[in-house]
Amino acid sequence: MERKNTIRYIKMIRGILSGKGGVGKTTITVNLGLAMHKLGENVVVLDGDIKNPNLGLQLGIFNYNITLQEAIEKQISLLEALYIHETGLRFIPAHISLKFLETDASKLRSSLKDIPYDLLIDSPPGLNKESLAVLECCDEILIVSEPFLPDITDCMKTIEMAREFGVKVNGIILNKVRDKDYELKKEEIEGITNIKIISTIPFEEDILKSLSLKNPIVNYYPLSKASVCIFQLASLLSGRKYKIPRFIELRRLFSIQDIQSKFMKLFYPI
Ligand SMILES: Nc1ncnc2c1ncn2[C@@H]1O[C@H](COP(=O)(O)OP(=O)(O)OP(=O)(O)O)[C@@H](O)[C@H]1O
Ligand SMILES: [Mg+2]
Repeated sequence: MERKNTIRYIKMIRGILSGKGGVGKTTITVNLGLAMHKLGENVVVLDGDIKNPNLGLQLGIFNYNITLQEAIEKQISLLEALYIHETGLRFIPAHISLKFLETDASKLRSSLKDIPYDLLIDSPPGLNKESLAVLECCDEILIVSEPFLPDITDCMKTIEMAREFGVKVNGIILNKVRDKDYELKKEEIEGITNIKIISTIPFEEDILKSLSLKNPIVNYYPLSKASVCIFQLASLLSGRKYKIPRFIELRRLFSIQDIQSKFMKLFYPI
């Protein structure tokens, strides 16, 4: 399908999509957006998962005057639903209420025209009406997957669909990687999909901790391995410089997050 980009003012609209659910799209959207912001980019993250929105919850914000669905339904500017988190991250949340289940996701694309920044859109998983509406908005997408065959097989459908829509697939973000023998290797995944893996993010307990604190990992623990991977990805996408902090291994040893972890394990050994 030939695609014409009629959206002006916006430099780049990137979608974060996946075949399977729960692979880390929302976590990556929030943290990648924040990492890009910290590197100096003007970026807005948007919750495109309008039936099961999570993005605002990950940022610890629950109440808004106006959200994405209200802006779409009342045909008001999406700028009215743009908020700034205490970290400086600009974001557009979707409302968690059931009363917005019927919001017409196909109007998302036209509603983006007012946003004068780069956008990162968190998509629902799979290929439903809402994720296709996200895909339709995008200049390019990043596919998030865990390193297992069923996940990769489902990704292939998203990759195919992106091709039909004329949307570039920039790469795969391999998430929750444990470096175990039972996981598919990078080369195998690239061989199956013919798409480059542009980031490999380890499974990290600190991400779960940061979720419970409603504080994105790149803010809560920027020295963590996952944070470094996300900053490197942000640097790759934006062209902005990111230098791995000096003596990072040593600093991790003395970081408050690491000491807390060790302390907890002393009292609550798993
Ligand atoms: N690298 C990681 N290491 C450990 N836990 C992770 C990692 N990435 C994400 N998670 C956790 O996995 C869970 C699912 O993450 P998230 O909600 O971001 O996935 P999702 O793909 O957006 O899910 P959905 O498809 O339901 O929208 C969360 O508990 C999150 O904290
Ligand atoms: Mg999600």
